[in-house]
This record gives sequence, structure tokens and C-alpha cells, in this order.
Amino acid sequence: MSTVHLTSSDGTFNFTQSDDDYSILQAALRNQLPFPYECNAGGCGSCRFIPMSGEYETLMDSPPGLSKRDIRKGMQLACQTRATSNMELKVRADEECRPSIVPRLRTATLESCQTITHDIVAIGLRTATAAQFLPGQYAILTNGEGVRRCYSMSNTPNEDGAWEFQIKRVPGGAFSDGILDPIVGDSYTIDGPYGMAFLRTDSNRDILCVAGGSGLSPMVSIIRGVAAEMRDSSPQVHLFYGGRTPRDVAGNKLTELLGLDSLDRLCVTSVISEPEDATSLGWDGEIGFVHESVERNFSVSVTDMEIYFAGPPAMTEALQRLLMIDLQVPFDQIHFDRFF
Ligand SMILES: Cc1cc2nc3c(=O)[nH]c(=O)nc-3n(C[C@H](O)[C@H](O)[C@H](O)COP(=O)(O)OP(=O)(O)OC[C@H]3O[C@@H](n4cnc5c(N)ncnc54)[C@H](O)[C@@H]3O)c2cc1C
Ligand code: FES
Repeated sequence: MSTVHLTSSDGTFNFTQSDDDYSILQAALRNQLPFPYECNAGGCGSCRFIPMSGEYETLMDSPPGLSKRDIRKGMQLACQTRATSNMELKVRADEECRPSIVPRLRTATLESCQTITHDIVAIGLRTATAAQFLPGQYAILTNGEGVRRCYSMSNTPNEDGAWEFQIKRVPGGAFSDGILDPIVGDSYTIDGPYGMAFLRTDSNRDILCVAGGSGLSPMVSIIRGVAAEMRDSSPQVHLFYGGRTPRDVAGNKLTELLGLDSLDRLCVTSVISEPEDATSLGWDGEIGFVHESVERNFSVSVTDMEIYFAGPPAMTEALQRLLMIDLQVPFDQIHFDRFF
């Protein structure tokens, strides 16, 4: 157990990193501190800090979230560093990152699996205590081999301890390569919830959700959250889902497969970027990149929407440019996760 003394422009905080805390970031968030973070995976660099004194170990070799300049300044990533003695560190606090639901570790059992596309499977896990999270948030799953990865929930919070995830198989991937054949009864650890791209129930703006590849899961959670939590105000929801070929976006059957076909204020547009053979496969939908489809269909009218998106960095960066720079959507209406 180590005590970490944290200094930021907001003041100073002491917190304890226990043996169960994977990293300094986990310890800070479990103490409900406003420690800056985004991906929890060493990719984004948001959790950079400067160690002032004490010993620590790093958990990832050459994390992409640290630039050469950061390394020269002696910075470290809190999501990939563990204190091994009492420590002092300096960070720029971010009040938005203070967790409203404290992340916790839970043991879970795999109960169900359902094929969504040729390489995405929905898995259902069960914990003994309630599944507490906000629609759109993610958790860190650890499998039986000790591989630890972030996955977004696709369901909504519940007292029954039901957690659903949609996982896309990455060939050669340590966690996801075997996911198309999950074994019911297998044990996992769920650490969460994390993330700021959650459904804002206090906004009555219409909603735009955009997903690429594995980014579908949190968008489904948000759409289910709208249906469950915002019945009275019920905004119009537009979902854009992008993949390479028709089979990546489940052809025309996406809403049926996701159980969203009964929602009357949901409009779904699937987009494929590789149109070869698409016509012979019966594809009559949109063609191009998903952000281009958003631009074609909405352009300036998105400025008055609440916007959520998730997916690979190339897609999220293209959308950020479109929304923030070209269309000037106010920052506080844009909520997203980059899947490093
Ligand atoms: C906030 C967040 C939320 C996320 N939510 C989801 C979600 O809902 N659904 C989802 O499917 N994913 C999600 N992800 C992505 C997920 O966390 C994993 O990154 C993804 O599943 C790949 O993990 P993996 O262990 O299978 O692959 P990894 O083992 O991490 O490998 C990734 C890639 O690197 C390659 N690779 C691995 N080792 C080597 C090597 N030694 N040399 C060269 N190449 C190598 C692999 O072949 C693969 O292409 C999310 C990520 C973040 C950050
Ligand atoms: S939160 Fe640590 S690098 Fe993204």
C-alpha cells in the first residue's frame, strides 16, 4: 500500500494506492479525485503527470500516449504507472473526470453470447452486485489469462448485475482473437465504470450517434438509455454506423439484431467504405466514410444536437475535425471515446 501526495492547480490531495489498484490512475479515481484521463490504455496521453519524489514502476513499454517531448520533461502516464513507495506527483486536475460513480472491481461470469456480425460478438456477464454505470461508459475486463482491455457496455445500468459488451475480433489480438467462441461459465474481472462520453439526460436536444467498427457498443447503450430514461422528453436519435463492407454492418438487419427495431424515434444509417461487390450483395445504402455521410446528411443542423461517437482513432479524429472546426459545434455538445 502506498500513499500518493498529489498537487494540482486545484490544491493538494493525499490518497492510498492499495494492492488491488492496477495503477495510480485507478487509485485516484477510486478515491473520487478529478484525475485527468480518457482511454485507460496508454494511448491518449490525458493522464500525464510529473513524478516529484518516490519510487514507481511502469506497466507498458513505450506507451503511444507519451511523446518524445513528454519523455524529455520526465512525464509518466498514470494509467500505466504504479507507485512502489510513497510518492509525490504533480498533475493538471480536470473536474469533468471526477467520477460520479466510483469505479469498483467485480468478479463476473460469462452467461451468454450472440453473433452481431461476422467478427462482432455480444457477450453477457453477470456480477453478484448491481451493474452501476451511465449509458455510454466503459469498463476494463480482465480474462482468465490476465489480459486486460477496455470494453464499452452496450446495455443500461441495472440491479440484476447484467453487463453486456460487444467485442470485435482483432486477428492476433491477445483478448479478442478468441472472442468468437466464448465459453459460458468463464470468469472475468470487471473494473469500472470509466469514461466521460455518457448520455446527458439533462439535455433535450436531438441526438446524433456515430460509430465505426467496434464503436457500436456504447452507441447502443446510449440509444437504450434514451429509451429507458428519457421517455417523457424522447428526442429524435440518429445512428450512423460505418464499416468496410455490408457484412461489417450486418447488412440491413442491424436494428433487428440489436433489438432496437421497436424504437420509433430512431433513424439508422449504415455506411460502407469499400463498395466492391456491394451491389451483388444487395447493398442499397450509403457509400463512403461515416463522417462524410454525417456531413452529407446534416451539415450545419448538427450544431444544435447532442453528439456521441466512438471507434478507431482515424474515424474519431475525422469527426472531431468536421464537428469542432468545420461545423463549429460547441465543445460541450460533443462526447466521444477513441478506441486505442
Ligand atoms: C475506452 C475504450 C473502449 C473500448 N471499447 C471497445 C468495445 O466496446 N468493443 C471493442 O471491440 N473494442 C473496444 N476497445 C478496444 C479494445 O480495448 C482492444 O484494444 C481491442 O479489443 C484489441 O485488443 P486485443 O487484446 O484483442 O488486441 P491486442 O493484443 O491489443 O492487439 C491489437 C493489434 O496489435 C496487433 N499486435 C499485437 N501484438 C503485436 C506485436 N507484438 N507486433 C505487432 N502487432 C501486434 C494485433 O495483431 C492487433 O492487430 C476499446 C478501447 C478503449 C480505449
Ligand atoms: S488515460 Fe492514460 S493514456 Fe489515456
